[in-house]
Amino acid sequence: MSNRRSFIKKTSIGALGAIITPKLASSKIHKENSHSVKGLPIVISTWQHGIAANEEAYKLINKGFHAIDAVEAAVCVTEADPECTSVGYGGWPDRDGNVTLDACIMDHTGNCGSVSFLQHIKHPISVARKVMDKTPHVMLSGEGALQFALKNGFHKEDLLTSKAREKWEEWLKDSKYKPIINIENHDTIGLLAIDKKNNISGACTTSGLAWKMHGRVGDSPIIGAGMFVDNEVGGCCATGVGEAVMKTLGSFLIVELMRQGASPQEACEEGISRIIKNQNYKDMQIGYLAINKKGEHGAFAVQKGFNYALHQNGKNKMIDSLSFIK
Ligand code: GLY
Repeated sequence: MSNRRSFIKKTSIGALGAIITPKLASSKIHKENSHSVKGLPIVISTWQHGIAANEEAYKLINKGFHAIDAVEAAVCVTEADPECTSVGYGGWPDRDGNVTLDACIMDHTGNCGSVSFLQHIKHPISVARKVMDKTPHVMLSGEGALQFALKNGFHKEDLLTSKAREKWEEWLKDSKYKPIINIENHDTIGLLAIDKKNNISGACTTSGLAWKMHGRVGDSPIIGAGMFVDNEVGGCCATGVGEAVMKTLGSFLIVELMRQGASPQEACEEGISRIIKNQNYKDMQIGYLAINKKGEHGAFAVQKGFNYALHQNGKNKMIDSLSFIK
């Protein structure tokens, strides 16, 4: 902690006012952008399910696809996987047995789209993409998001697998709401990618916390909380207890810290320290991933156990994140 505090003092980015100083918007990093930067393209994503998603994104980027198309296709892999119990089809339901989904997507121009509290649609990320591409809005929610999806060629499906139903029925026996760290409160796939043109995009999609209240929406569809990218700087995505991320607008904060000169690692650590400072963090997990336009990455979590998939220089591998609680 003391190192992080002194970092903030030294760089004078501790004061919120400094974070949004307009003159800092023209980043030095931006000028260094070039196709020859080592470590690019890069794809990074949360948790073990990120390996398959990264694979898809990297394959598309290698074929010349834009990052925005790669990130959407990548997280569709996770959304369709019934074994992934925290994203899309097969996600564990709310306490009333409904699978409700949140997702957002953002491209290098700052365009973004999101859906929240969406039911019956296997690929919320693709609905979010349609919101971005086809509407003047950023977010559609609930029944309105479902109607929009149906009008745009998506079809209704039952997303509650028999395995997820069994888990829910087991939970109903004593209906205690105390999510188990890294199991019931690990969740989201957040994925960031920089393509061959050195453009960044991000996607984030989840069924949210298991056994949540019906209607609860987390950080994942909130641009700047669950995910944020800025093509001058880099990007960030979050996983874990969304309420804590929303209270600190974590992804936006971390990108802004990088804009002011923090490395992705320093920025992620400061993002976590904002949570530690004001919230009862002992029973929750939150993890951040960030990349900058040089292809450097960082990761930090509240608790041990957060890991992520990094596809860089042709290798796709899992890495254990550092954490505040060792
Ligand atoms: N981070 C996902 C959620 O809290 O719903």
